[in-house]
Amino acid sequence: MNVLGIDIGGSAFKGAPVDTKTGKLLAERHRVEIDAPCPTAQGLAAAKAIAKHFDWKGPIGIGFPGIILGDKIDAVGNLGTNWEKTNGAAIFRKATGCKVGLSNDADAAGLAEMRFGAGKGHQGSVLMLTFGTGIGSALFYRGQLLPNIEFGHIPWHRSQPIEKYASAAVRQRRNLSWEEWVVRVNVFLKVAERLCSPELIIVGGGVSKKADKWLQFIEAKAKVVPAKMNNDAGIVGAALAWENSAR
Ligand code: BGC
Repeated sequence: MNVLGIDIGGSAFKGAPVDTKTGKLLAERHRVEIDAPCPTAQGLAAAKAIAKHFDWKGPIGIGFPGIILGDKIDAVGNLGTNWEKTNGAAIFRKATGCKVGLSNDADAAGLAEMRFGAGKGHQGSVLMLTFGTGIGSALFYRGQLLPNIEFGHIPWHRSQPIEKYASAAVRQRRNLSWEEWVVRVNVFLKVAERLCSPELIIVGGGVSKKADKWLQFIEAKAKVVPAKMNNDAGIVGAALAWENSAR
């Protein structure tokens, strides 16, 4: 089935039509930049612009950077608290004129990696992590997702979420070398491993394309691998998740 996948990140909405059977993008992705935090009207307009770009009338799956409870948005990390407690599926449906299914963005990326990427066929416990503006997490066991795991929000220094210490955005903002950044990632991984003991950790987000820069410094009990679908995982996964989402 063909579903328009939209992945919402801290700086842009990115979307493309996806063949959910093969996990392939059917057209070049379209990107719409947003402000951080993102006003609701601006985000809805971005989703509308992506649907319009592809002249889309079919179903849309959206990977959203916050906790998704059914069709509602609960706590939101970096996109803005203005999105909280809204009926996300309904407002995006109204904006695009299409049926919309919502899921957490990291859960979506994890689904894609488990079906087509680095987690394919893995039956044990797998932790998918996405490093971007925040840190997204998704936990799988025997291929089943436990939704809305939020390891990026583990309280850290002065009770700040640990994503404010170890995300990819922090590396750029503080001008950290890859090695300096991985020192922070290793602190995060130690806590995450203590909480769920995964056998495999898949690292996604923009950094997955640059694994030669950081993988060598990683210290973890689990096997750590970069995501195979790179940044497409979020779009493909959002489309895959459409089938499971409340709408
Ligand atoms: C949000 C998560 C999201 C992650 C990556 C965090 O701030 O709380 O829901 O998966 O950022 O976007």
